[in-house]
Amino acid sequence: MMKTVSEIRSGFPILSRKVYGKDLVYLDNAATAQKPQQVIDKLIEINNLYTANAHRAVHYLSGKATEAYEGARDAVTAYIGAGSREEVIFTSGTTASINLVAFSFGEAFIHEGDEIIVTEAEHHSNIVPWQMLCERKKAVLKVWRLEDDGFLPMGTLARLITDKTRLVAVTHISNVLGVVNPVKDIVAFCHSWGVPVLIDGAQGIVHERVDMQALDCDFYAFSGHKIYAATGTGVLYGKKKWLDAMPPYMGGGEMIGTVRFEGTTYAPLPGKFEAGTQNLSGVPTLVPAMEILREMQESQAVIEEQSRIKDYLMDWFAGRGDIRLFGVPRRTSDKINLYSFAVDGAHHEDLALILDKMGIAVRSGQMCAEPLMDRFGVTGMLRASFAPYNTLAEAEYLTKCLDKAINMVR
Ligand code: ALA
Repeated sequence: MMKTVSEIRSGFPILSRKVYGKDLVYLDNAATAQKPQQVIDKLIEINNLYTANAHRAVHYLSGKATEAYEGARDAVTAYIGAGSREEVIFTSGTTASINLVAFSFGEAFIHEGDEIIVTEAEHHSNIVPWQMLCERKKAVLKVWRLEDDGFLPMGTLARLITDKTRLVAVTHISNVLGVVNPVKDIVAFCHSWGVPVLIDGAQGIVHERVDMQALDCDFYAFSGHKIYAATGTGVLYGKKKWLDAMPPYMGGGEMIGTVRFEGTTYAPLPGKFEAGTQNLSGVPTLVPAMEILREMQESQAVIEEQSRIKDYLMDWFAGRGDIRLFGVPRRTSDKINLYSFAVDGAHHEDLALILDKMGIAVRSGQMCAEPLMDRFGVTGMLRASFAPYNTLAEAEYLTKCLDKAINMVR
């Protein structure tokens, strides 16, 4: 029996708390999502019963810690359709996953004069690591520009790509525009040039069931905390042929074969990329988190409520000549329930502070995407990002409070 939205909400204890005496309306899910009870329970269970280092000892507790950690790898492998567990590397989050690729892929495959393409819609995490690499290797970073509605024209990519292009890095869904990019087509096009593709899936995996075999991308990076798991967990999916050919990113315990002062050999995948003690209590929370993610994505009640929220907010924004909504694709189905906007004559920070006092948590500022702010000629935006546990009533409360807040500051 599928759960209702209110049954789903009741599984997230924080959603029943108050802030400033008002019911919490949490609309900052693109920054981090709330934790369901099962994830909190898993963290407590690991800390209460299995605190020990994994892979390193023969005692009972170490065995249990290893089981929980490696069990999570099997669950992620199955969930994202990776070819094998060796293709699933645990990291601290999307940023760490992308930095790993930028460093290690860069060491192996990027040389002076080579080109890397990123889009204008990227989060800083999918820009700066590539800039650092290009600086180090004297390579060239090229930018795939957006259209005004947030759309990435394939024709532009076709003009940018050359026989010097070594990698294309693109976001699955922009954290600012909420527009779903045609990543499958992008991968197919890049592969026709023999160019690998890294996808920043920080927002993508939250809203879509991803399958690495169908997508055929070379790398897919995501964070646990945005899919309801513990903070400080993340995944890098990479095709084995690339991961095998890339040197380690960090050196340390458990990533080695043998260590001698004359030279060191490295562990096979995935250990080669997991130096040092890992997030042993956090990683196992990915298991209940992915179960809940799947349940929410498949719930008819959630799908219907999310669609009501989208219809309501798209209409509301369309009716406001004084508010600029960013990321309005031709097909509404290409937009998730994430709304970044700027209000004429009202500063985003002032509005966010007033909304906060009304119990509403939204994000304001540059959203870790300064080039995108420049692209749209604003110093910052206000963003409301919805999760499956949010309701139409909360969307209605948001617009009512926004009206009030705008009137207060103007
Ligand atoms: N990348 C996160 C956001 O968009 C932090 O808010």
